[in-house]
Amino acid sequence: MERLAILVGAKGRGSNMVALLKACAEGTIPAEAYRVVAPREGTDAAANAGDVDVTVVEPGEHYGLRLVQALQGATIVCLAGFTRLLPVEVLHAFPGRVLNIHPSLLPRHGGAGMYGRRVHEAVLASGDAESGCSVHYVTDQYDEGDVILQGRCPVLPEDTPESLAARVLEVEHRVYPEAVARVLRGDAHE
Ligand code: GRF
Repeated sequence: MERLAILVGAKGRGSNMVALLKACAEGTIPAEAYRVVAPREGTDAAANAGDVDVTVVEPGEHYGLRLVQALQGATIVCLAGFTRLLPVEVLHAFPGRVLNIHPSLLPRHGGAGMYGRRVHEAVLASGDAESGCSVHYVTDQYDEGDVILQGRCPVLPEDTPESLAARVLEVEHRVYPEAVARVLRGDAHE
């Protein structure tokens, strides 16, 4: 049985975490929900993890090694609201098995500093007619790994960054579980 771990960030709300855990419980993702790893600041978000074990790992010295230790036993790792560059130790410990979701149609509106509201502001400023989300493999660069699956939604003339973020988030909650399931079934390129 595959074992899925979720790495929550300091600024996340945990809504993608909840969507992934629910999909494991319902069998849409063929994996057991194994563990949530969060910094202390992210534990409010992680509080919705239900019965799943939550391990707190604070950034600092040997962060990468401590993350690897906390993730030991997992077979796939999903980032959810994790805005730092992932330490390479984690990438080496889980080659081709670390996924992230980004709230835009990559390669548009990705890269360092592009997270949260800024992404949706950039979409509105660019006049794009549609937006969406991208699930991609994680590399040692921001938002650069191969895209596994995208979901799309329209950008409306009256949109604010908040209204667009809410529409994209709904798409995220459908697309992230589907992308993870594809990777685990071997239907996604690695
Ligand atoms: C989502 O918009 C996701 O695309 C990005 O961070 C946000 C996390 O939201 N990586 P949540 O914590 O899952 O609600």
